[in-house]
Amino acid sequence: MNTTGQVIRCKAAILWKPGAPFSIEEVEVAPPKAKEVRIKVVATGLCGTEMKILGSKHLDLLYPTILGHEGAGIVESIGEGVSTVKPGDKVITLFLPQCGECTSCLNSEGNFCIQVKQSKPQLMSDGTSRFTCNGKSIYHFGNTSTFSEYTVIKEISVAKIDAVAPLDKVCLISCGFSTGFGAAINTAKVTPGSTCAVFGLGGVGLSVVMGCKAAGAARIIGVDVNKEKFKKAQELGATECLNPLDLKKPIQEVLFDMTDSGIDFCFEAIGNLDTLAAALASCNESYGVCVVVGVLPAGGQLNISGQLFSGRSLKGSVFGGWKSREHIPKLVADYMAEKLNLDPLITHTLSLDKINEAVELMKTGKCIRCILIL
Ligand code: APR
Ligand code: ZN
Ligand code: ZN
Repeated sequence: MNTTGQVIRCKAAILWKPGAPFSIEEVEVAPPKAKEVRIKVVATGLCGTEMKILGSKHLDLLYPTILGHEGAGIVESIGEGVSTVKPGDKVITLFLPQCGECTSCLNSEGNFCIQVKQSKPQLMSDGTSRFTCNGKSIYHFGNTSTFSEYTVIKEISVAKIDAVAPLDKVCLISCGFSTGFGAAINTAKVTPGSTCAVFGLGGVGLSVVMGCKAAGAARIIGVDVNKEKFKKAQELGATECLNPLDLKKPIQEVLFDMTDSGIDFCFEAIGNLDTLAAALASCNESYGVCVVVGVLPAGGQLNISGQLFSGRSLKGSVFGGWKSREHIPKLVADYMAEKLNLDPLITHTLSLDKINEAVELMKTGKCIRCILIL
């Protein structure tokens, strides 16, 4: 049945209020307007950022909303003026757009497209939503809202990918993998023979480990309070792993003892201000680089007094420094050519209906990524 131009009724996981479980509901998804694309979402990851939102430890959001920002799917229909994708194309959804025109997009080093900032938060460019449930308007999230069988997103937030790519795997390129891997390759620019430390060994941190390995780091020290993460970290390239809870001294002192002069490249992939301060303090005082990969709590303060009277750098990183529309199809091609491996990150697969089970799995710490199939 051709659904072009029609409202589509389908299933979505709605978050009605902070701290509530997801609720599977029937929603109406309006057709795409100008420069928008409607996508049949096929697979989506549940990322650490959503876990933080559920724990109410994160960004201020507007409710009710449809979360999900690690998705892959197939274009169902396109709005007026869309020229870069067509119905039937396989695509990855991008929480970070690439408009191609702003100062960031035009700078060869920048990837923080100003279009990520919406004029009205969690709504489309015209200030309205494409989702309703029982007549009530539902907010979008992250430019993507992939916890819905169909979603509408801006053309600049869609990357066309290889037609034979397995969507239940490459959806991780939409956030977790690219964020971590790129933080090592693009943001830190890890050098061969260097010593790296990665704080947090979830899906993002393990992807940082893979990036450090790919860049030729000699030592990669994984740090996590859950020692069950260590086996996989070592399989992916960590040379040593530490649990700060088992140590008699602060982690930064232990890392200095282990390396004589501190770490060359430190990564914080938890989103915690205390571990970020510890990661910065673990860096070599002359040239160490600390990259903030995790999303930090809104309104928190970082206590780093004295630490930057040194040659250290503290760097932000968004989406691993990748220019989203341009680089993501290349990462998919690298996965298809077996130059990248996403499979170790996928520990569970469930249907969207079971999203609350996926949340529980993430809470146990046994799950790196649970892919939801729609
Ligand atoms: N010290 C060390 N490790 C910690 C600590 C701590 N204080 N607190 C949590 N961790 C570990 C957890 O045990 C877990 O292995 O950090 C890891 C976080 O992983 P996930 O929850 O799976 O999150 P992930 O998807 O990897 O995202 C990490 O990046 O995208 C952002 O918002 C996201 O900030 C989050 C971060
Ligand atoms: Zn994410
Ligand atoms: Zn831009």
